[in-house]
Amino acid sequence: MTPKANKKVRKAVLPVAGLGTRFLPATKAIPKEMLPIVDKPLIQYAVEECVASGIEHIIFVTGRHKSAIEDHFDLAPELEAFLDERGKPEQARIVREISDGAQISYTRQSVALGLGHAVLCAAELVGDEPFAVLLGDVIMDGKTPATRELAEIYEATSAGVIHVEEVRSERVHLYGIIDAEPALNEDPRWHNRLLQVKNLVEKPSADKAPSHFGVAGRYVLPPEIFEFLKHTKPGTGGEIQLTDALCKLAEQNRLLASVYEGKTRDAGDKLGFLQATVELGMRDPKLGKDFRAYLKGLKL
Ligand code: G1P
Repeated sequence: MTPKANKKVRKAVLPVAGLGTRFLPATKAIPKEMLPIVDKPLIQYAVEECVASGIEHIIFVTGRHKSAIEDHFDLAPELEAFLDERGKPEQARIVREISDGAQISYTRQSVALGLGHAVLCAAELVGDEPFAVLLGDVIMDGKTPATRELAEIYEATSAGVIHVEEVRSERVHLYGIIDAEPALNEDPRWHNRLLQVKNLVEKPSADKAPSHFGVAGRYVLPPEIFEFLKHTKPGTGGEIQLTDALCKLAEQNRLLASVYEGKTRDAGDKLGFLQATVELGMRDPKLGKDFRAYLKGLKL
């Protein structure tokens, strides 16, 4: 029998139950995840990363007032027929592809008890297999899809694995920060950037941070993490933190960190959201040229 830990990573959990208070009043009636960056809702970037990473089943952990997310990823036959009739097959294709890539399931986190609790809400749907977690606020932009990189490391090493990035001192209090040492791994695909995680601290002050490597918002985890989450007590901010359950994996030497080589864009607050909009707008194949010319001409 193949060892359980080497199973393929087929499922991904996307926690989307947050209230999006940083974006009020925009998020009074619209989920934060549906705010558009250029021409796609923020959450679609994570869904596209899943599909590009070979994920077959996406599990959204939603909350109240999030039905727009379900509608967005559902079929829209009337809209497609309307666009086809009006001679807009390209737009009809764009609409169709949104719901095409993977099976999607929804479960609810009825009370906001933290990220760890949100992931635990997906336990039944994930079952006894490894899975990815993607925090949709963060757009990860690299040569290889970020989740695929983690899935490949998991499939080769059987260890849980997270992407980390270097974080400036004044921002470490916004991240889970790892304590780690270089991992003993000979695989030329990643041996220079794999760390063995010894411990993690959620949102430490700069003077208590064990390193400058922050958890970037992508995880691939073994199903045993659910057992740890069940026993995780509220931590930082009174919430059940995924970071605290990861500490248990790290204690057993079963957690690796990969220093992410691409670019991360955290669109989870207004400034980051504007920066992501400008940067992705500048790169947009259709709008980019005109937008860059417009920005150049701005009198600052
Ligand atoms: C969460 C995690 C944190 C991680 C961060 C990345 O925090 O708890 O460990 O570093 O995402 O964006 P949040 O930003 O949801 O407060």
